[in-house]
Amino acid sequence: MASLIRTENITRSFPSGDGQEIQVLKGLTLDIPAGKLTLLKGRSGSGKTTLMNILGALDPPTSGRIWFGEEELTAMSEEARGKLRRRRIGFVFQSVALIPMMNAYENVEFALRLAGSRENWRERTMECLKIVGLSQRADHMPQEMSGGEQQRVAIARAIAHKPDVIFADEPTAELDTHTGLQVVRIFKELCSNEGITIVMTTHDTGLMDIGDRVYELEDGAIIHAE
Ligand SMILES: Nc1ncnc2c1ncn2[C@@H]1O[C@H](COP(=O)(O)OP(=O)(O)OP(=O)(O)O)[C@@H](O)[C@H]1O
Ligand SMILES: [Mg+2]
Repeated sequence: MASLIRTENITRSFPSGDGQEIQVLKGLTLDIPAGKLTLLKGRSGSGKTTLMNILGALDPPTSGRIWFGEEELTAMSEEARGKLRRRRIGFVFQSVALIPMMNAYENVEFALRLAGSRENWRERTMECLKIVGLSQRADHMPQEMSGGEQQRVAIARAIAHKPDVIFADEPTAELDTHTGLQVVRIFKELCSNEGITIVMTTHDTGLMDIGDRVYELEDGAIIHAE
């Protein structure tokens, strides 16, 4: 499998308050296969979100190197990193952060505006709502939709600017098993039909079979990869 992102021995430390440092990521070497679904699992506090923020170019590692395609993320200026993030990366979070005053259509279109997309906004917005199965809900407000539907709008919004990769941090945590599975199925379809790379963290052991690649973290280290 060709990889989209590769890391070499990345660490992340945070100041602990008493002048010491706590090392949260302890030298991770991994690769994220292109066009596939990768799952990051592990207990609360094992470092999943910290790793995801680093892979998603939101936060730099304390040491180690990261490549995004051919480019070395850890060698870029902050400005170049921000540009890469806006153009090539999309995020989906645990609590759906749709803008409450905007309907589904407007929430997705707004993301295209922000990304400065050159696509036809109307066409691309409707296309993304269709991909997540919500064409009929374009004019619904967030509070008129179920949690699963809102999360699907958030996915439509994350893919609108055609990123190479989507990072989804516990996107199913607030959904029931059935609805969570629906969201993961949409991710699988995005991989196979649109060629998007997806990285998702989860606690849900029922979802593990669905990942093309699974990394298990414990205490900031990879203890299992398959
Ligand atoms: N900004 C920060 N400053 C200090 N410590 C931090 C910071 N961010 C994370 N940590 C610590 O790093 C460890 C890993 O946190 P992280 O959020 O990555 O875990 P997680 O695996 O995502 O957990 P969860 O499943 O609960 O979301 C925790 O012990 C946390 O307290
Ligand atoms: Mg987390």
